[in-house]
Amino acid sequence: MRFPLPLLVVVLGVPVWAAEPAHARRAMVVTREPHATEIGLQVLQSGGNAIDAAVAVGFALAVTHPPAGNLGGGGFLLARFADGKTTFLDFRERAPQSATRDMYLDAAGIPTDASIVGYRAAGVPGTVRGLEYASRKYGRKPWAELVVPAERLAANGFPVSYGLAASLREHYRLLSRFPESKRIFLRGGRYFEGGEMLVQRELAETLGRIGRLGAKDFYEGETARRLAEDMARHGGLITQADLEAYSVAERQPLTGSHRGYSIITAPPPSSGGVGILQMLGVLEGSGFEKSGAGSAASLHIMAEAMRRYFADRAQFLGDPDFVSVPVKRLLDPRYLTSIRRSIDPNHATPSDAIRPGDGLPAESSETTHYSIVDSEGNVVAVTYTLNGGYGSGVTATGLGFLLNNEMDDFAARPGSPNAYGLVQGEANAIQPRKRPLSSMTPTIVLRNGSFYLVAGTPGGPTIINTVLQVLVNVLDFGMNVQDAVNQPRIHHQWKPDELRMERGFSPDTISLLEARGHHIRIVEKMGEVAAILADGGWLHGAADPRTEGTAQGY
Ligand code: DON
Repeated sequence: MRFPLPLLVVVLGVPVWAAEPAHARRAMVVTREPHATEIGLQVLQSGGNAIDAAVAVGFALAVTHPPAGNLGGGGFLLARFADGKTTFLDFRERAPQSATRDMYLDAAGIPTDASIVGYRAAGVPGTVRGLEYASRKYGRKPWAELVVPAERLAANGFPVSYGLAASLREHYRLLSRFPESKRIFLRGGRYFEGGEMLVQRELAETLGRIGRLGAKDFYEGETARRLAEDMARHGGLITQADLEAYSVAERQPLTGSHRGYSIITAPPPSSGGVGILQMLGVLEGSGFEKSGAGSAASLHIMAEAMRRYFADRAQFLGDPDFVSVPVKRLLDPRYLTSIRRSIDPNHATPSDAIRPGDGLPAESSETTHYSIVDSEGNVVAVTYTLNGGYGSGVTATGLGFLLNNEMDDFAARPGSPNAYGLVQGEANAIQPRKRPLSSMTPTIVLRNGSFYLVAGTPGGPTIINTVLQVLVNVLDFGMNVQDAVNQPRIHHQWKPDELRMERGFSPDTISLLEARGHHIRIVEKMGEVAAILADGGWLHGAADPRTEGTAQGY
């Protein structure tokens, strides 16, 4: 249920528009695409648990949200079960066996666009194996039943939304480079208008095989064979052996606390959880919240915490199966205090003046997110991706699914910026079978040991700061979950030395930040959050008004 008129309320002296989340008593699904939300809800209402719903939503988005929903990508699933146990499934892509450190550098040592566009940009996809792992270990419903709704949507088609039609057009340059992508997603160059039906015959066939035969088809069967052949014909690196060798990693989530709330979040190879916990730790005790949400003073402190974390990210974060990430030290209270003390409340610190890890105690770096809570109290947060919108632009021939360009999340040349302008270090250099460092940050918050909030978002490096701001808006500024999501966002990633701000801040605030020395860049939008908050016996679901997403419960 949504109320059309926002009410003006006052939180900590700062007026914010009180937007209404969706409300439900028992269960809630929030995704960025209405068909997918509906499918998740149906799974829950027919006796499935949150994991079952997450699997079905994952397959549905692969059909209805082609910029990010995927079979040819990877991601993370964070779960907290009703019994209090938690887990983190890492089905992030891995570098193919024949990948090399300098594979994206030209003869002069300059990074090319091969890590971003075309067959060579793709890492070995993890999504199908990840969803199967989740279903087998933690789900309840038969696998085939979770794949069928997506298969039907692909076979029968669905009406292209206004937003998807616009997004497909915006990506015509990328998609028209690859005949199969042009045929399917651009209708051979005739484009889709909102309301017209997108039918994906080949994708339906692939989903049909996955439904009948399981992930085995994708990694060892007909789909694997045809994908490897397509790769070989087009100079891609992924072989059948790479597909067969792909494995999911089940990891311990990172945990921490903020203002007495428990935070459960994404461990490496995500750089997000370390970032959230470090930045919350720096903010707590800084008094930043006293100046109120959206004030220049609080935004400044947050931007300075962001700048400092992203410097550490560049230096220390990578795949924990390949490099040792000093998580404990990066979150050590003494280190957090030293970071907090290094922030001048009145002046921005130039990024070049920041030395990653300075003060670190000695030893003793398009996507989509959905959140689901079921009636038993299981909570699932999934962020998965092709990396850039529509990934590498390549649709696997005859298979109907787009391939990721996740290889660009590695540091093609340590010290040089990637597609997101992120400067990253040796810890994230390319190695065979390694996972590229991610920013994806599915996060769950507990209050007095019980589920309180779940959130996540796409947005490349802005993910970490967007999740941080949603948390801060609820935990520090006391906003309702929809306001916390709606609020304009900022982003600093150390380099480039600029503070990105969404439209919506007052010109006065922007001037005050400029006066402190920030280099401001106004951007259209950052993030597409899907959040759920539990309070007073109700679930409050917040889709991001920046998207066509929906929150539905029962
Ligand atoms: O894992 C990462 O950090 C990136 N591949 C995420 C990309 C992304 O969020 C793009 N979405 N807007």
